[in-house]
Amino acid sequence: SLPTTYDRPVTVAIIGGTGISHLEHFTPAASLTVDTPWGAPSSPIIILETDTGAAVAFIARHGVHHQYTPSEVPSRANIAALRSIGVRTIIAFSAVGSLREEIPPRDFVVPSQIIDRTKGIRPATFFEGGIVAHVGFSDPFDAQIGKIVKRCEGALTGGAKVHVDKTLVCMEGPQFSTRAESKLYRAWGGDIINMSALPESKLAREAEIHYAMVCMATDYDCFRDDAPPVNVAEVMGHMKANALNAQHLVGCLLEELVKEEHDDLHTGVALKDSSKYAICTAGP
Ligand code: ADE
Repeated sequence: SLPTTYDRPVTVAIIGGTGISHLEHFTPAASLTVDTPWGAPSSPIIILETDTGAAVAFIARHGVHHQYTPSEVPSRANIAALRSIGVRTIIAFSAVGSLREEIPPRDFVVPSQIIDRTKGIRPATFFEGGIVAHVGFSDPFDAQIGKIVKRCEGALTGGAKVHVDKTLVCMEGPQFSTRAESKLYRAWGGDIINMSALPESKLAREAEIHYAMVCMATDYDCFRDDAPPVNVAEVMGHMKANALNAQHLVGCLLEELVKEEHDDLHTGVALKDSSKYAICTAGP
C-alpha cells in the first residue's frame, strides 16, 4: 500500500470526472486521507509522479466507486483538501453534451464562460455563517491553462479536436434536459452542457486556485429533432475513448506546466487578490 504522507507541496491537481477514476502512466507515490471543516473529499488524494519527477494530485470527483451524483459531490471538501496540500492550479475533467453540430462526440472543449442552472441547490460558498465575501467570477476559467490545453491538442488520438472559448451550461441533474430546454440553452449561447462545473469552479475561485475545465463531448444532448436523444449507453461508449485521450492530454499538460513561463500557476500569485476587496465582515 502507498505511503499516507508526502513531504513536499503539490501545486497542480487533476479532478477526474465520470470515466476517469484514476490516471495511468504515472507512478503513485502517496495516498493522502485529508479531513476538512467541510468533511472528507470524494476520494483519497492520490499523489502521482511523472518520469521527470513532477508531482500531481488526483481526486475522483464522483468517488472511487462513482457513488456521488453531481448534486452530491462534496465540492467544498475537495477544494479545501487540495488547497491544504498546496494546490494552486486545478485542471478538472468532465463529460459534456454538445449543443452544437460542430462539436461532435469525442472532441474536447475548453469553456471560457458558464451559465449556472444549479443555483440555490448545492452548497456553493466557503463564505457564510458570519463571514461575508463576494469574489469576482466574470471570467470563471483560467485563460492561461486554456491556452496550454489547446497547445496539447496534438496529444489527442483519433482526430479529436480541442475547441476553445465556448460557453458551458451547468445544469442540475440527474435527469437530462428536455428538448425545449436544450434549444433554450442554444438560444442563450450555450455550446456544451454538463452537471459538474458548479459549484467546483466557484469554490476554486474563492480559494484563490487557478481553475480550468477540460470538457469531453459524449453526445448531442437532444436539440436535434431528427436524432435520438442522449442516453447513458451512448455517453459511456464515447466516454471510454475520451478517457484514453484524457490520459494522453494530461501527460502533455504536465510537461508544459513545469516550464518556467508558467511559474505563476504554481504560486497562485495572479489570483492572490481575488478576495482582497471581497470580505465584507470578519465574522463573529
Ligand atoms: N453529461 C454528458 N452529457 C450530458 C448532457 N447531454 N447533459 C448534461 N450533462 C451531460
